[in-house]
Amino acid sequence: MAQDERANLEAVLLAGPPDEWIQGLARFGVPVQSHMAQRVVDLEMVVVAEESRGRGLGRKMVDHAAQDYRKRGYRLMSGSFYTHLPHLERYYQRLGFTVLDPGQPLLLRVPEPADGVVAYPAEPTMRQMWRPLAPTVGLTTVSDSHQTLQVIDNVL
Ligand SMILES: CC(C)(COP(=O)(O)OP(=O)(O)OC[C@H]1O[C@@H](n2cnc3c(N)ncnc32)[C@H](O)[C@@H]1OP(=O)(O)O)[C@@H](O)C(=O)NCCC(=O)NCCS
Repeated sequence: MAQDERANLEAVLLAGPPDEWIQGLARFGVPVQSHMAQRVVDLEMVVVAEESRGRGLGRKMVDHAAQDYRKRGYRLMSGSFYTHLPHLERYYQRLGFTVLDPGQPLLLRVPEPADGVVAYPAEPTMRQMWRPLAPTVGLTTVSDSHQTLQVIDNVL
């Protein structure tokens, strides 16, 4: 949260565990689910008061949260926004996020011994995004006989 000198609320950021990814990991067991909750943080909301926008406060809040979670061992910040707010694509890209096409799921590699891919599903009206919090996190290609996927690696 950020407040001005009159103690009015200027900006709010909410972040928490990536619920759908954690649920999607049920088949891998509780230890993997709990590991995910300590490695991935979901950016749920950033709002800056109208009169304070365009002065870098939104950037400051997100960068501060990213730095704080990085220090605590988190490796990835995920998030999403509705397609009817198209300007948010540029905003989040300027903040270092990769923004996916509408409805495209975020895919994360689950390493050995579980070895698999877990998807964070998206509604067609949503755009998902991700920002690495550690330098080793990036995209890798995973193939099987049916398909080739670009997945986020080195998070778990
Ligand atoms: C989106 C929002 C949080 C941005 O906050 P802000 O303090 O105005 O943003 P900043 O000044 O920190 O801007 C950060 C970067 O994003 C860009 N940006 C900010 N608002 C933008 C917009 N509406 N369209 C395109 N780019 C935008 C800025 O140019 C800046 O890039 P730069 O530093 O490279 O020049 C604010 O407009 C807001 O609260 N909107 C309503 C709520 C909302 O939609 N929240 C997001 C979904 S939960």
